[in-house]
Amino acid sequence: MKTLTVALPGREYDILIQRGLLSQAGERIRAALPRARKLAVVTDSHVEPLYGKTVLDSLAASGFEARLFSVPAGEASKNPSQLAQLWEDFMDFGLTRTDAVAALGGGVVGDLAGFAAATILRGVPFVQIPTTLLAQVDSSVGGKVAIDLKAGKNLAGAFYQPKLVLMDPEVLNTLALPQFMDGMSEVIKYGCIWDAGFFDFLTARPSKPELMADIERILYTCCDIKRQVVMEDELDTGLRMILNFGHTLGHAYELAGRYTQWSHGEAVAAGMCAAAKLGAALGVTPGDVPGRIEAALGALGQVTGLSCSMEEYAAAIGLDKKGAGADITLILLDKIGHAVPHTLPKAELLRLLESFHNVL
Ligand code: GLY
Repeated sequence: MKTLTVALPGREYDILIQRGLLSQAGERIRAALPRARKLAVVTDSHVEPLYGKTVLDSLAASGFEARLFSVPAGEASKNPSQLAQLWEDFMDFGLTRTDAVAALGGGVVGDLAGFAAATILRGVPFVQIPTTLLAQVDSSVGGKVAIDLKAGKNLAGAFYQPKLVLMDPEVLNTLALPQFMDGMSEVIKYGCIWDAGFFDFLTARPSKPELMADIERILYTCCDIKRQVVMEDELDTGLRMILNFGHTLGHAYELAGRYTQWSHGEAVAAGMCAAAKLGAALGVTPGDVPGRIEAALGALGQVTGLSCSMEEYAAAIGLDKKGAGADITLILLDKIGHAVPHTLPKAELLRLLESFHNVL
């Protein structure tokens, strides 16, 4: 078992990584939450038939009264009416403040269940059991929970740290290759922003079987980096913004594809390649870095470039909104393994993007 502790004052929690951990969920949660009697397990229509029974059986064996609450799989479930439905379901279940909510699923389930846990009865204990690579290396750690509004993604939410994160790498065996590669964009991001040795380690393993052979180490390294960043800047006012490497331009591509044409991982992959090229043009990023990132992503079959209109770039960087600030902070690399915030006028970024339009 690999264990990492997110040491936030008064809100410390462990991330446990072990093959087969799903069938030990009951004992692990019992150890972290000795007083809880009921456990509301939020999952989705895709994950429930795969892992719902394993988790419920384990919880029952540890004396929990557990019930599954399944939402339709997909981003559309992160909405206010689904949240309100969960609140009502939790009350019907008789949940109290000493009981707990668990999220069994990917990022959508984690964000939705986490926000429901943060708000029901002004907050009940919460456990993350992430079942996608993206959720394991990113969204289940660090306490960001949210739902989407008509105006945009993740606009209503909270910082609400879990009491425990249970990561079973075996669940990635049933994860379809495109979803696995989505998570790999974020995995490669950690190498880019924090750890050059990890970047090289990943580039030497350009396939799912090779990556799965070392998956505990990969999950551990990503969560260790995220843990360090979150411990220094839980509320996202400084260092945590380096986790957004590739995300500003990635957001433009997601927006351009109406959030359906490109997955988050594809958009971030293209966003990282674009940010590396912009960084090189701005004299911040060494000239060989864009090619190295493209090669790492390309070897996995991930996209290395997407295009969108100048209007869509402008919308993504907030230039279309009256009163929005004049500057934007992009996350750039001054080498593989180290990220630096770089602030420039939005109008200048747009001019740069225009001159790059055919090569990004
Ligand atoms: N996913 C970025 C963060 O947790 O800050």
